Amino acid sequence: MGRGLDLERNFALEFVRVSEAAAIASARLMGRGNEKDADHAAVTAMRKAFDKVDFHGTVRIGEGERDEAPMLYIGEEVGARRPGSPRLDLAIDPLEGTTICSKGLPNSLSVIAVAEEGNFLYAPDSYMQKIAVGREASSAIDLDAPVYENLKNIAKAKKCSVSDLTVIVLDRPRHEDLIQEIRAAGSRIWMIQDGDVQAAIATAIPGTGVDVLMGIGGAPEGVIAAAALKCVGGNFQGRLKFTSAEQRQRAINMGVKDPDKLFQQEELAAGPVMFCASGVTDGSMLKGVHFYGGGATTHSLVMRSETGTVRFVETHHNFLRKPFD
Ligand code: FBP
Repeated sequence: MGRGLDLERNFALEFVRVSEAAAIASARLMGRGNEKDADHAAVTAMRKAFDKVDFHGTVRIGEGERDEAPMLYIGEEVGARRPGSPRLDLAIDPLEGTTICSKGLPNSLSVIAVAEEGNFLYAPDSYMQKIAVGREASSAIDLDAPVYENLKNIAKAKKCSVSDLTVIVLDRPRHEDLIQEIRAAGSRIWMIQDGDVQAAIATAIPGTGVDVLMGIGGAPEGVIAAAALKCVGGNFQGRLKFTSAEQRQRAINMGVKDPDKLFQQEELAAGPVMFCASGVTDGSMLKGVHFYGGGATTHSLVMRSETGTVRFVETHHNFLRKPFD
């Protein structure tokens, strides 16, 4: 294992500063009804904060391809980039849940996953069929198995009955059949409007009340969720879903050798990874940014796959001493 592994530990708190900065910037625009502005604020703050960290990062999962994103586009290099700075790959979503933030709804996050060079799947901006669970059920899932089989195996692993399980699903017309199958199996369903990264991670965090994520969401978000679940010993499987032949070709052009394969967690995020997320709006896993005269508090989650340590960080920012621009 190269130098990156040691550095993950030292970097954990550096990267939290970055997700905190993005969370604060976008949280200022909570409920304003303007998704683009909230996202832009998060992206600008994250871009700026990365450059204060002594590393040489390459964005692998980001805001899109170079021609469609002015900042944090795929392939963009960030960080202080001094001679000898460690080279790391990034899978980021400066504001996961842009609509959530613009409406002031729960569970929008700013997220950063870090791996050694070449270890993330360079996922295209397509959809991905996903299944995600926490540690206890990590060996119980198979994306290709019928819904009932998965629920039965997850319940067995968690020593409960299928009717005790809560399945989190994005509320989309494309999930009509999936929802019917879950209902027929007898499990409970928690439908969410947006934010399946938070939903996937919640399956592995005690107290969130979520056992499994099922359904189709964004592919880039799938890679980020796989990295996060790897840190806590959970499991994630995904298969790319394309809405056009061009999208499929784009995936191949990005280096995806078999666009139809079932990707295991390790193929989405290989080797040691680090993950951090800061809440933007209040959520079931993390509190959002709370502002007060002269400052704000942020709540973040920091995890590393090497140790499996899950750290919740509450930060009190003093804007009078350290202005936030
Ligand atoms: P954004 O933050 O880019 O708005 O994504 C929100 C999200 O809900 C993701 O969490 C999810 O993976 C994806 O959108 C689902 O896509 P769609 O809204 O097209 O169903």
